[in-house]
Amino acid sequence: MQQPPVAHVEWSSRLAFILAASGSAVGLGNIWKFPYMAGENGGGAFVLVYLLCVLAVGVPIMIAEILIGRRARLNPMDAMGTLAAQHGRSGVWRWVGLAGVIAGVLIMSYYSVITGWTVAYIGKSVSGAFNGISGPQAQAVFEDFISDPLDLLLWHTLVLAVVLGIAARGVAGGIERAVQWLMPGLLVLLVALVCYGAATGGMGAAARFLFTPDFAALDGQTVLAAMGQAFFSLSLGMGAIMMYGSYLPRQAPIGRSALIIAALDSGVAIVAGLAIFPIVFGNGMAPGEGPGLVFVTLPVGFGQLPAGGLFAGLFFLLLLFAALTSAVSLIEPGLAYLTERTGRSRGQAVAIMGSAIWLLGIGTVLSFNVWSTPWLAGRTFFDAVDYLTSNLMLPLGGLAVALFAGWALPRLATDDELQLDTPRLRRYWRLLCRWVAPAAVVLVFLHAIGLLG
Ligand code: PFF
Repeated sequence: MQQPPVAHVEWSSRLAFILAASGSAVGLGNIWKFPYMAGENGGGAFVLVYLLCVLAVGVPIMIAEILIGRRARLNPMDAMGTLAAQHGRSGVWRWVGLAGVIAGVLIMSYYSVITGWTVAYIGKSVSGAFNGISGPQAQAVFEDFISDPLDLLLWHTLVLAVVLGIAARGVAGGIERAVQWLMPGLLVLLVALVCYGAATGGMGAAARFLFTPDFAALDGQTVLAAMGQAFFSLSLGMGAIMMYGSYLPRQAPIGRSALIIAALDSGVAIVAGLAIFPIVFGNGMAPGEGPGLVFVTLPVGFGQLPAGGLFAGLFFLLLLFAALTSAVSLIEPGLAYLTERTGRSRGQAVAIMGSAIWLLGIGTVLSFNVWSTPWLAGRTFFDAVDYLTSNLMLPLGGLAVALFAGWALPRLATDDELQLDTPRLRRYWRLLCRWVAPAAVVLVFLHAIGLLG
């Protein structure tokens, strides 16, 4: 019988794991996506549903992913397959891992394009393009920028090349080091922007927008979007965290680590919202601007500060690093799958994944200019890939992981992995993982397709 390969390296410590997993979680999802999704979906009610999903669905599924990864010490597909076989379960579980690999490629195809925008914006910031800029001017700069497909394609290609270059060398060491200074730096700059918002007066309106739920704004699709955002932001449902869990040393408590990662991730998202919306409301801009929101608001905010261009440049640089640490985790399950399962070299795996991602990315590049007319159920290519992955594939992947850890694995096995956590945490986890998280995902789906009022 073919022996599954044994997993590779281990993180150097529990802190290294927390940093790496936070590096995966904190990315464009927090700073680019969360604010514009909240803006498009009515603010407070979306934020509330998002936070509820993080706590009741995201955290238990994150624990489940880490637990499965560490127990099997394999790429997600083999991890699910091997554990299923060990416990006499169906071989079908391994396809959950493969679906995750595909979701990773799809997400990465647009993640790379948007990361390219941040690179371009570093240059624009430090060249002084944003000094004293007004809302409409920032809007015009952004629209002009995304109207050129060749320019966007160039940035997409460059970013993808860098990500693949990092991935080709293996992730563990580099990520640990990068995240150590990246995360604090990003937070300091975000907090500085929040203070700016507080000083210039838009904060009241921003806080009202983000924290006063208007339940009339909630419909099935908004709730689904909030749940999808929770999965996307926490990097769940596609095996990224499972992959990182496979490098986790035995002596690290999984539950507490997951709580820290989730708290950090949601914290960054909320702080990003508090940094961006004061600028929106203080300058008469629209919260429902869409994917351009940070690229229009932050230049205006920084542009009014002394040495703003420099700080804006630094901000986009940090955002770039945050995006890179997430991007490597997006493709890692696919790379591990190709190398461990099909026996290809890491270089070949990088080439295969890279080509698929690059080609798909062209669809997103064109969605913002020559191909911006909706064509698939009212969506552009970018919107369609985003909807398919965040709103469908990740929650479904997460649902499968919850069912696997909660029902297919025996309690003895899961308790063994969670033995360093308190009995209370273990009990809550089991309840959430078996009942609450799966029920929530199913109910949100039923609600979204209109079966539940
Ligand atoms: N969590 C990342 C972000 O918020 O930007 C995106 C992401 C990374 C999603 C890895 C999924 C994933 F597996």
